[in-house]
Amino acid sequence: MFSKLMMLYFFLTHTIAAVENLSFTYNGFKSANLSLDGIASFTPNGLLRITNDTRQQKGHAFYPNPVAFKNSTNGTAFSFSTTFVFGIRSVPTLSGHGIVFVLAPTRGLPGALASQFLGLFNPSNNGKATNHVVAVELDTIYSSEFGDINDNHVGIDINGLRSVKSAPAGYYTDNNGRFRNLTLVSRQPKQVWVEYDGEKKQMNVSLAPINAGKPRIPLLSLNQDLSQIVRKTMYVGFSSSSGSVLTSHYILGWSFKMNGKAQELVLSQLPKLPRIRSQKDRSIFLISVLPLISESIIVFAILGVFYLIKRKRKFAELVEDWEVDYGPQRYKYKDLYIATKGFRDEQLLGSGGFGRVYKGILPKSNSEIAVKRVSHESRQGMREFVAEIVSIGRFRHRNLVALLGYCRRKGELLLVYDYMPNGSLDKYLYDHQETILNWTQRFRIIKGVASGLLYLHEEWEQVVVHRDVKASNVLLDGEFNGRLGDFGLARLYDRGTDPQTTHIVGTLGYLAPEHMRTGKATTGTDVFAFGAFLLEVACGRRPIEPRRPSTEDMILVDRVFSCWKETDILEARDPNLGWEFIAEEVELVLKLGLMCSHSEPAARPTMRQVVQYLEGGVAADLPNLDLLGIRSSALAFAHREGFDDVLAMSCPSSVDKASLLYTSSSVAASLLSGAR
Ligand SMILES: *[C@@H]1O[C@H](CO)[C@@H](O)[C@H](O)[C@H]1NC(C)=O
Ligand SMILES: *[C@@H]1O[C@H](CO)[C@@H](O)[C@H](O)[C@H]1NC(C)=O
Ligand SMILES: *[C@@H]1O[C@H](CO)[C@@H](O)[C@H](O)[C@H]1NC(C)=O
Ligand SMILES: *[C@@H]1O[C@H](CO)[C@@H](O)[C@H](O)[C@H]1NC(C)=O
Ligand SMILES: *[C@@H]1O[C@H](CO)[C@@H](O)[C@H](O)[C@H]1NC(C)=O
Ligand SMILES: *[C@@H]1O[C@H](CO)[C@@H](O)[C@H](O)[C@H]1NC(C)=O
Ligand SMILES: *[C@@H]1O[C@H](CO)[C@@H](O)[C@H](O)[C@H]1NC(C)=O
Repeated sequence: MFSKLMMLYFFLTHTIAAVENLSFTYNGFKSANLSLDGIASFTPNGLLRITNDTRQQKGHAFYPNPVAFKNSTNGTAFSFSTTFVFGIRSVPTLSGHGIVFVLAPTRGLPGALASQFLGLFNPSNNGKATNHVVAVELDTIYSSEFGDINDNHVGIDINGLRSVKSAPAGYYTDNNGRFRNLTLVSRQPKQVWVEYDGEKKQMNVSLAPINAGKPRIPLLSLNQDLSQIVRKTMYVGFSSSSGSVLTSHYILGWSFKMNGKAQELVLSQLPKLPRIRSQKDRSIFLISVLPLISESIIVFAILGVFYLIKRKRKFAELVEDWEVDYGPQRYKYKDLYIATKGFRDEQLLGSGGFGRVYKGILPKSNSEIAVKRVSHESRQGMREFVAEIVSIGRFRHRNLVALLGYCRRKGELLLVYDYMPNGSLDKYLYDHQETILNWTQRFRIIKGVASGLLYLHEEWEQVVVHRDVKASNVLLDGEFNGRLGDFGLARLYDRGTDPQTTHIVGTLGYLAPEHMRTGKATTGTDVFAFGAFLLEVACGRRPIEPRRPSTEDMILVDRVFSCWKETDILEARDPNLGWEFIAEEVELVLKLGLMCSHSEPAARPTMRQVVQYLEGGVAADLPNLDLLGIRSSALAFAHREGFDDVLAMSCPSSVDKASLLYTSSSVAASLLSGAR
């Protein structure tokens, strides 16, 4: 009897208390009658503060009356809709642990823990079906034990903290559907919508900045029948917990409705969040956050020292006493590093010719430069070399690429040049580019390079031997003027004096026979290389093309010679020139090329003579080639033996790694084809 009475009493209280189609709206909580526990409280201006700045605490705020959540006839969970505005205030970037909208069978959640348990569960009941709890968490701490995706996410929790569905905090914009991130702890109020459709058995959750309105596409959409989870009557409210960081979690307004759409909040009426950095905040800051910060400072200081050491190593340079005078020509490695974006591959202009060349823009002057990285282990000869490049750097000639300066690191030399927008000449001759240089351009380039080389040989205060004249070392400026680059670089590697161990640096096909024999570079060997250059520009071919079928075809100078001897020297010209050329000039260049290729250095013209012939522009001015003794056997590459005992390095990229000993032309040729 008593138990029956009790049941009746229970039934009555519940049917009376559980309001059907409950609906309420709080635009601020000034006159609200919510059931609070833990450290939850109302602020004087009507904010619901679920946690105040206290560590490891929880707070709850529930609508005081139970809500009928299921149709008692058929046991189906009703639809419901709610929206609320929340705000989280903590020290910058640190916060904990979050706010949860919760449906629970009891008012308050007894036994629940703070921190990562969000005031919802404890280790023994977390995840149990007997909880009958549905929650939407705004989680600001990453808890790996519950499979959190990050420290800033929204999740739907059913009976446990392992979310059945979660997403990084954010929203899809209405106009283009693009996802925008939101930071839960940003101190800006944000609005949340939670809607459950009892017929569709679907729950949607949306989040948006305040005043942005409800996004059309929800952040989370979960298809789940809540009928099995919720009880007939439930309590609705909020839970929150703090961890080790002082955080206040606020609700500014809340609207809820069963079996219908919650009434809109009047955002303008909502209370304001407390201003940041009040006197009180500062004292809290001093008491609780400062120790944290000072620990961080120590950690950062240690990291900083490591970073500085790493950075110092990264930008380390090699500077010796003798370099003091070269101050102005010396670049900081760091500047070059920044200019070339860390020597990134996209900045690479080319490689070969002793190293890789990068394009860069100097940060201070905004000027375009090309930086050549030359790897060089030996310090031997470096002093003389640097002295020479610095002195070279002082001269300015319109047909020489300006060497602006250098930088030295361990095992590496960096040379800084003017940037030449049109790249190197060889590209235009062989690589079948769309731009084919016409004869006028080619002739101007030839004359320019000749005058640059004359300057090096005779017009500078000391004689400078270039040592590596060839089309790929001729760069084209914005107006397609030829400029000779890379002067003197070969010298860095050319240290042979003993004929038995001669290292010759240069490029096969441009190396004079006496240079190969003695290892000595002279102005005469430069003239020889210039001869090969003349022929390659006029014929559009490399001096040696190993893949050609016959040897006569393989060696350019042989071919020009035989054209001259047997038919017409003009037949050797680049077929790409078409008929747009001045025959006199082409003939002059080809014949001059043969003259310069003479195996006897004394028979070659000097650069001054070369310039004079070129300025004259007519082949008739040249001495009679027959009288000069230009015969096939007098030309370097027709001279088999001369070619066979070549001791040469021709492979610039491996120049510092190995000295290559070529003993036959076929080996040389095969290596050449690989090297180019
Ligand atoms: C509650 O709302 C539902 C759906 O709108 C309606 O069918 C039902 O009659 C309402 N109940 C009461 C008591 O108003
Ligand atoms: C607030 O709600 C409680 C529990 O339902 C009730 O006892 C109390 O009288 C209410 N107070 C006001 C001011 O409505
Ligand atoms: C937080 O709330 C508790 C309980 O209301 C109170 O004792 C405590 O002083 C509050 N702390 C702060 C910092 O406001
Ligand atoms: C509960 O379900 C029954 C049977 O489907 C229905 O007749 C009744 O209107 C429902 N009650 C409410 C409040 O929706
Ligand atoms: C149960 O009641 C709900 C309304 O509360 C109704 O939408 C649903 O169709 C009913 N289900 C059955 C099986 O009658
Ligand atoms: C949003 O944040 C995530 C991680 O926090 C990041 O990976 C993503 O790029 C961000 N998206 C936008 C649009 O900012
Ligand atoms: C959830 O969102 C989708 C997409 O906007 C919508 O089609 C669906 O009706 C929504 N469901 C609920 C329960 O609001």
